[in-house]
Amino acid sequence: MNQRANDRVIIFDTTLRDGEQAPGCSMTLREKLRVATALRDLKVDVIEAGFAAASPGDFAAVANIAEQIEGPIICSLARCHPGDIEKAAQAVAPAKHNRIHVFVATSEIHRKYKLEMAKDEIIKRAVDAVRMAREVCDDVEFSPEDASRTEPAYLADVVAAVIEAGAGTVNIPDTVGYTIPDEFSDLFAYLKANVPDIDKTVLSVHCHNDLGMAVANSLAAVTAGVRQVECTINGIGERAGNCSLEEIVMALKTRSGHFGIGTAIDTQKLYPTSRLVSQITGMHVPRNKAIVGENAFAHEAGIHQHGMLKHASTYEIMRPEDVGLSKSNLVLGKHSGRHAFRERVEQLGFSPNDTELNRAFEKFKHLADRKKELFDADIEAIIMNVEGDQRGPWILNELNTSASTAALATGSVHLGHEDGHTIEKAAVGAGPVEAAFKAIEQAAGIETKVRNFEVRSVSMGDDAQGEVTVTVDYNGHSYRGNGISTDIVEAGARAFLEVINLICRQQAAGTLDDKNSPTDKVATI
Ligand code: KIV
Ligand code: ZN
Repeated sequence: MNQRANDRVIIFDTTLRDGEQAPGCSMTLREKLRVATALRDLKVDVIEAGFAAASPGDFAAVANIAEQIEGPIICSLARCHPGDIEKAAQAVAPAKHNRIHVFVATSEIHRKYKLEMAKDEIIKRAVDAVRMAREVCDDVEFSPEDASRTEPAYLADVVAAVIEAGAGTVNIPDTVGYTIPDEFSDLFAYLKANVPDIDKTVLSVHCHNDLGMAVANSLAAVTAGVRQVECTINGIGERAGNCSLEEIVMALKTRSGHFGIGTAIDTQKLYPTSRLVSQITGMHVPRNKAIVGENAFAHEAGIHQHGMLKHASTYEIMRPEDVGLSKSNLVLGKHSGRHAFRERVEQLGFSPNDTELNRAFEKFKHLADRKKELFDADIEAIIMNVEGDQRGPWILNELNTSASTAALATGSVHLGHEDGHTIEKAAVGAGPVEAAFKAIEQAAGIETKVRNFEVRSVSMGDDAQGEVTVTVDYNGHSYRGNGISTDIVEAGARAFLEVINLICRQQAAGTLDDKNSPTDKVATI
């Protein structure tokens, strides 16, 4: 199916492909399915679910998303190689609407140094690939990689050839984030004037953010008539990232008078989707990030607060509720019941099932005993972490640590295993976190190397919860876990135990998941 939309901009989300490709952003299959579900609920038009030929893990992710996620077009990336196209076709086959996205580089630099191919050889390869993909899939997209640094006349020849070969969408990537809005807009005007059948295809744009202009360049392309924008949640992606989905969508919505065209995105889901991706990838959203940063709607200066109290539009160009941020920030306390809790969770844009909600409510009650005031961020953190906490085989029954400036720290843990046995271990370390980690390693019989330990305050106040993200190396792979608690040593231990559990589950299943494993990726992109 080739989706045509002249009345709106098609949102092609590549969080699970270009976003996931960025260092430290890899996701497990389960995490990818959670993100794909959130993208479906957000109402993106196309989900680029991965690069099926890159690794067995990528193939499985695309195939599972194609099987389970209904609504958006499910797409796989493929190089212009028959093997890649076959894999992509197989992986997306279960989806009701599917697409194959083939690409080859076209710029002189790439032709000369990477591909060592002449201009006409590249055109032939592109045409053969589009034809082959069209034999197995009605909806084919083509990207000339590094298009913005390709000679315009040659780019026009490539685009004309792939349209003739059957590409329903032609995407023009600014692969290295080099272009600027005026220049990019001129490139589209040039293509429109010089490619005879350009109206037979949907023109698309794919911008990287190396000079901080991915969103501006994508908007310039829309003004020049482009009708598909490729983007990622929180702008994650290679190097400085990709065009941020939430920014492009809200720019089109907020300045609809200027652009005269919008998207089908359910904007109230932007904030929860951003939080989900940030929590899963461990890539924290900066406080001042447009649209979804914590400060995006906070007004500190007295003069601003005064204006806001008189009329919100004095300093607010968007309503926080339109992006899924609810107005009240101070929320529930220890006397709040399950019903109020559910309502708040739903107002925050989450839709947990009954089991998840019950688990989250238990954690909420427990937290309310330790913390005076619970903010929206606390509730969000509970909901996001509820799944990780419940996935064994190990659970943390008890943790004790002691630290002193005069001696080594000590830590002891009591862990329960899902098969019913329990174990207690103690260890010493340079600090309480190291002591706790070593005790957990001894209990589980797994030795890892901790690569990164990050702490972030979830909300405000002395009793705020800390969220810890731990990244460890084990057996040539990298694993990440999250934990939250009002005590950061406990949060660290929970995050570390999440990692240990992930390793144990893989050992039990006899699989080494490709989480964070760059060695499993194809090196050419
Ligand atoms: O940045 C890029 O050029 C890409 C292509 C594969 C579309 O990601
Ligand atoms: Zn890209």
